Amino acid sequence: MEPLEIASIKGFRDIFPEEARAWQWIEAEARRVFEVFGFLEIKTPLLEKTELFSRSIGQETDIVSKEMYTFHDIGGRSLTLRPEATASVTRAYIQHRPYQAYPIQKLYSIGPMFRHERPQKGRFRQFYQINAELFGDPGPKSDADMICMAVFLFQSLGLDHVILNLNSLGCPVCRPRFKEELKGYLADKGPRLCEDCQRRADSNPLRVFDCKVDGCREVVSEAPSITGFLCQACREHFESLQNYLSDLDIPFILNSQLVRGLDYYNRTTFEMQTERLGAQNAVAGGGRYDGLVKLLGGPDHPAIGFAVGLERVAALIEDSRPFQDKRPDLFIAALGEAAGNEAFKWAEALRRKGLWVEFDYGSGGLKSQMKKADRLGARQVLIVGDNELAAGRGVLRHMLRKEQVEVELKDLRTVLEGMLKDETERESRD
Ligand code: HAM
Repeated sequence: MEPLEIASIKGFRDIFPEEARAWQWIEAEARRVFEVFGFLEIKTPLLEKTELFSRSIGQETDIVSKEMYTFHDIGGRSLTLRPEATASVTRAYIQHRPYQAYPIQKLYSIGPMFRHERPQKGRFRQFYQINAELFGDPGPKSDADMICMAVFLFQSLGLDHVILNLNSLGCPVCRPRFKEELKGYLADKGPRLCEDCQRRADSNPLRVFDCKVDGCREVVSEAPSITGFLCQACREHFESLQNYLSDLDIPFILNSQLVRGLDYYNRTTFEMQTERLGAQNAVAGGGRYDGLVKLLGGPDHPAIGFAVGLERVAALIEDSRPFQDKRPDLFIAALGEAAGNEAFKWAEALRRKGLWVEFDYGSGGLKSQMKKADRLGARQVLIVGDNELAAGRGVLRHMLRKEQVEVELKDLRTVLEGMLKDETERESRD
């Protein structure tokens, strides 16, 4: 029989520890920043009823029309792996009514999303988002607060080259007028548009802006701009937002082409973009979606949110690694059976105290154990043979400084804890 080769699915990645360490750091920074803005974590299921996404995101969007992982379960229900988090968090908000206890709800979540897109650099079929949603305030102060949080996050990640792009998509009062204008503009552009956009030009003309096909991009580059069509209320909202951002010294550029690929937005939309990632230039995107809670059967509550693409952020910090890599605090190099057995017990005792301790499962010589300690990046190595064990002493070697001291084994824990404390203090000073 041929050997069966089972590799991962295209667009689905394995994240090995070195990259996962970067993710942990990004996530920790996000939690730290979000929590000082009063956001609390929510976890929602990966699987939802298909209708939740098709109604929220919109039938004509790329996501719903061709990118969802949808299947029928054993009970015959149509289910979909979430392509984004906003619809799910909104569903949870409506279902559990947390607003009854407190009218402003600020919720964040971190987890995988699924879209059947064409995989390429920075674009995957399973990808992770750090997502934040604020329910219950119509803005524009909450818009500015939300955007400020996204900007703080990128600053705390050291990504100063990321540029905030801002737009307003108007509201149900003024957007229909713009749509009509756009329809008129697109009406005779049929031959220059792709097949999908020829259809959308009439049914949902805003979606033509999302298309990645060159011909369609050319056509929309000369399209009328929504900014000229905003009603007074939307114009004032947008101007106040810009004033708040300027007061906070947050730079932005106005980008009237920024319609975002989801139907639920109204008024403010924004994206954090960089030139360092090639075609996939958006590291985060979001906007206001005042109509979605009601559309999904909830009360008429406004909302705004954004999501950060974790893989894209990780790619941006790949070379700089602006965080400490984790490394063992101690490797116990035991020589001889008795020392080996003691090492096992010490390791478990020190681990209970929170130290990362490694030892050799086998019975390698000193050279091979030192090599292992080195490869793991252990800070210190305790060397004990059966003779030292009998004398109650061992040698503690500092691997970076290449210094070693004799230690009384009974004092090992205190000595180690003292050394590690000094080291941590030094590292946080450096
Ligand atoms: P989105 O623009 O579709 O918005 O996705 C947000 C971010 O997720 C993008 O800027 C990008 O960094 C990342 N991303 C999207 N698709 C992929 C992919 N295939 N591979 C890798 N990264 C990707 C939303 O999803 C909205 N739910 C954001 C939002 C929250 N709006 C309001 N609240």
